[in-house]
Amino acid sequence: MRATAVANANLALVKYWGKRDEGLILPQHGSISLTLEGLETRTLVAFDPSLEEDDIRLGGRRVGSPRRVQGLLHIVRAMAGTDCRARVESENGFPTAAGLASSASAFAALALAASRAAGLELEGAALSRLARQGSGSACRSVYGGFVEWLPGSLPDGSDSFSVPLAPQDHWDLPVLIVLVRSGAKEVPSSEGMRRSVETSPFYPVWRQQAEKDLNLLRQAIAERDLHLLGRVAEENAMRMHAVAMAASPPVLYWSPGTLRVLEKVRALRREGLHAYASMDAGPHVHVLTSRDCAAALEAELAALPEVSEVLVSGPGPAARLLGAE
Ligand code: PMV
Repeated sequence: MRATAVANANLALVKYWGKRDEGLILPQHGSISLTLEGLETRTLVAFDPSLEEDDIRLGGRRVGSPRRVQGLLHIVRAMAGTDCRARVESENGFPTAAGLASSASAFAALALAASRAAGLELEGAALSRLARQGSGSACRSVYGGFVEWLPGSLPDGSDSFSVPLAPQDHWDLPVLIVLVRSGAKEVPSSEGMRRSVETSPFYPVWRQQAEKDLNLLRQAIAERDLHLLGRVAEENAMRMHAVAMAASPPVLYWSPGTLRVLEKVRALRREGLHAYASMDAGPHVHVLTSRDCAAALEAELAALPEVSEVLVSGPGPAARLLGAE
C-alpha cells in the first residue's frame, strides 16, 4: 500500500513543444532527451483507507489539491480498481526555487510510486504512458541515458510513450546547468505550447523541422558525435524559442542573463572549447560539453555576474523504486 520512488530530470535535445491532445497529453511530434544525473525527485505514495481526501506535500509543505497530481492519482485508482485516497510526500533534490523545471522528475517518480503502492507492476511503455499523463516530458524520465518519446498517432494515446535509445554509460557527456538571475514569472510550458500551436505562424515549420532534427540527433547519439549533437540541440532550442516569441501574445522565456550566457558560450566556442547551449521554458541555460572542457567552461560561466550557480550533471539513471510494502 506504500512505495517510494526516485526519478531524474531530463534535458530535451530535440524539444517537445506542442500538444495534439491537451487532456491525454499527446504531442504534435517526437522528442529526444538526456536523463540528468543528480537532479532527482523522491516521492512516497501511501494509500490510506482512513483518509477522506488526498494529502499532498511538496518539500514538507501541504499543498491544496494540485490538479495534475490528483489527475494522475485518479488514473492509478481507476487502473487498480480502488477509490482509496493517498498521502503523497515529494522532495526535490535540486533548486526548484531558482525556476529549474521539476515536472519531469516529479511525475515520473509519482507514476512509479503510485502505481506500485496501488499494487500495479507497471514497467517500460506502460509506466511511461502513465507518467506522460502527469507531464509530457515525464514519460522520458522513466528511462536513463538517451530517450526518445514516440508521439504515436492513435487518439487514445496508447502508442505514445518513450523508448530507450542508449544507456547512461553510452557516452560521458557533461552537462552544465547554468542558473541565471531572473525575476520575471514565467509562462507555464503548457500555456506557452498552446499559444505557439494556436497562434505562432512558425509552428508548421517547427513541426516539420523536428522530424529532421530527430534523425540527425539519433545519428549523433549512435556515433557519439558531440559537434553534431551540440549543433542540432542548440539550433532546435533556438527554434523552439523563436516559435514561442512569434506567438500572440508573445512568449519570451529569456532574461538578460540568458543572452549573456549564450554570448559567452559562442565566444568560448570560437576559442576552441566544446560548448553548445539549450534552454527549456525558462531563462536558464544547459551547456553540453566534453570531459576535457568541462572544468574550464564551468569556471568561465560561474564567473559571469548574471549567473547565480552552475550545476554539473551528465547522463543519469532510470526511475527506480526505493522500497514498497
Ligand atoms: O512536460 P512539460 O509540460 O513540462 O513540457 C516540457 C517542455 C520543454 O521542457 C520546454 C521541452 C521538453 O521536451 O522537455
